[in-house]
Amino acid sequence: MKGIIFNLLEEVVRKEYGDEAWEDLLEAAQVDGAYTSLGNYPDESMMKLVAAAAKALNTPALEVTRWFGRKSLPLLAERYPHFFSGHKSARTFLLTLNDVIHTEVRKIYPGADVPVFEYDSSSPDVLLMGYRSRRKLCALAHGFTEAAAAHFGEDLLFEQTECMHRGDDRCLFRIVLKQAAPAIS
Ligand code: HEM
Repeated sequence: MKGIIFNLLEEVVRKEYGDEAWEDLLEAAQVDGAYTSLGNYPDESMMKLVAAAAKALNTPALEVTRWFGRKSLPLLAERYPHFFSGHKSARTFLLTLNDVIHTEVRKIYPGADVPVFEYDSSSPDVLLMGYRSRRKLCALAHGFTEAAAAHFGEDLLFEQTECMHRGDDRCLFRIVLKQAAPAIS
């Protein structure tokens, strides 16, 4: 896994829990923590960091992974505004993951091993999005999707009807987005 993902985790943990929490996490996970954005590191190190955070927070690892996605997408939005700027909804944004975003990511970070998404956008109200990756990071995709909806000011209904963690071939998300009602002032 590319160092950029480790860098994001470090940034989110330092911001939310403080510098010491990151040092403690590295120690608990027994990883050295020297990640450069272009470097490639074992997936196992990420899993160890997530497992250590899950233990420290007494929260399931999948919830920690989802939280990480939710907190880190806004950082990606700051760094890569052009991936977001052409869209009014998370729906069209999500539809560009394979062909635009992760294609570009593979150019910027040679050797990046990005997931593959499958789409059924035949309904204007429901987006079905399949996710395949040997890393089984559907919880990360869930968190990214939550943050993407928030970015575009939308309410999100997210259901996962298939999951590789339950033995399915792929994960399948059922995504319903609605423009959030304006706050009454
Ligand atoms: C600006 C937007 C985004 C950027 C720059 C970006 C970039 C990346 C990068 C660099 C990786 C690591 C690849 C590797 O380690 O080899 C990655 C992985 C991943 N991305 Fe994205 N991504 C973006 C948006 C999204 C969104 C919106 C989703 C899902 C809704 C998503 C889902 C994932 C997942 C689940 C992984 C983990 C790897 C795996 O599943 O095997 N990404 N992305």
